[in-house]
Amino acid sequence: MGQLTKIRTAKAKTRAPKVNKADLPLGKILAGDCVEEMRKLPDASVDLVFADPPYNLQLGGDLNRPDGSHVDAVTDDWDQFDSFTIYDNFTRDWLTECKRILKPDGALWVIGSYHNIYRVGAILQDLGFWILNDVVWRKTNPMPNFRGTRFTNAHETLLWCSQGEKSKYHFNYRAMKTLNDELQMRSDWTFPICSGAERLKDDEGNKAHPTQKPEALLYRVLLATTEKGDVVLDPFFGTGTTGAIAKRLGREWIGCEREASYRKVATARIEKELPLDESALTTMQSRKTQPRVAFGAVVEAGLLKPGTEIFDKKRRWKATVRADGSIECGKEVGSIHGVGKTIQNAPSCNGWTFWHYEAGGEVKPIDAARGLYLLAAED
Ligand SMILES: C[S@@+](CC[C@H](N)C(=O)[O-])C[C@H]1O[C@@H](n2cnc3c(N)ncnc32)[C@H](O)[C@@H]1O
Repeated sequence: MGQLTKIRTAKAKTRAPKVNKADLPLGKILAGDCVEEMRKLPDASVDLVFADPPYNLQLGGDLNRPDGSHVDAVTDDWDQFDSFTIYDNFTRDWLTECKRILKPDGALWVIGSYHNIYRVGAILQDLGFWILNDVVWRKTNPMPNFRGTRFTNAHETLLWCSQGEKSKYHFNYRAMKTLNDELQMRSDWTFPICSGAERLKDDEGNKAHPTQKPEALLYRVLLATTEKGDVVLDPFFGTGTTGAIAKRLGREWIGCEREASYRKVATARIEKELPLDESALTTMQSRKTQPRVAFGAVVEAGLLKPGTEIFDKKRRWKATVRADGSIECGKEVGSIHGVGKTIQNAPSCNGWTFWHYEAGGEVKPIDAARGLYLLAAED
């Protein structure tokens, strides 16, 4: 529960120094080194950073399959660092800039593999970021371990971090639960690696980028931790997966990418992407973001009349609704929450979901009456 109080809702953001969005290079891929490019951006101006930095794979020599064919691994220059120290210094530099440009209630996502994620994790903690979750992306179709000398490397790790231990951050808990068939979304996510029509190809039909991330992964990250209109920055833009999904979901985006060929692929990709309709973008809201409704107001509005019998789901207790919104259950009298708590001898009780009523031959939680009240209030 302590965690929940820190979550920012769409309505209650932490006050940040005002940055005019028009002063930001929204919808642009900044050409060059991300540290240099981020240094040009104002403090506290970005809601979310999604970073897919070089892995520092340290691959030595070519990798072939048992049939002799060549494995298309990440051997590009951008993934080469001469030592861990050089990689760590680079990591500290770009994370420092992320920390500065993020709003106080902004958040950071970093994705990586065992080669780099532990180093990145330690450095971001040293800089004051607070890890909220480590999410495991389990790949349904990972590349096998061709030499048969180790386990198949079948996952990557994402770190989701707030600006600090006490910082607010944004989490669309309700939308995530809805996305997951009404089950709380867990920290292990299963997606295939990017393939088929989604995989971008160059003019010769080869992969346009060795580490293009699946769109579904970015879709979940952005839906879970941003709102429509939020500014999302990706310092390692590659093929622009973050930009494409941000555009689709009505978020603003900024990318940094130092390789011209990737910028070209990303630009063409994002141009083709269409934003979803305003109505399609509305997600389920948690109770915290909905206006508070007193049970008395529901009674007053005639949606549950005084004298109505309410009961728990298993019909172990029944109570009567009174004119002032209190309820009576045997000797206990009080609010829907208080009486529910006392009769169950529980530390707390959400009366809206505990008590039920009958309407049109159906048993419904009294929360349904609150829903009707909210609907009427919207008209
Ligand atoms: C792991 S890939 C990101 C792939 C991307 N998430 C996608 O879905 O296509 C890392 C990218 O960062 C770029 N990069 C590496 N170092 C950089 C730096 N210092 N500044 C800007 N871009 C950099 C590389 O060219 C590469 O495209």
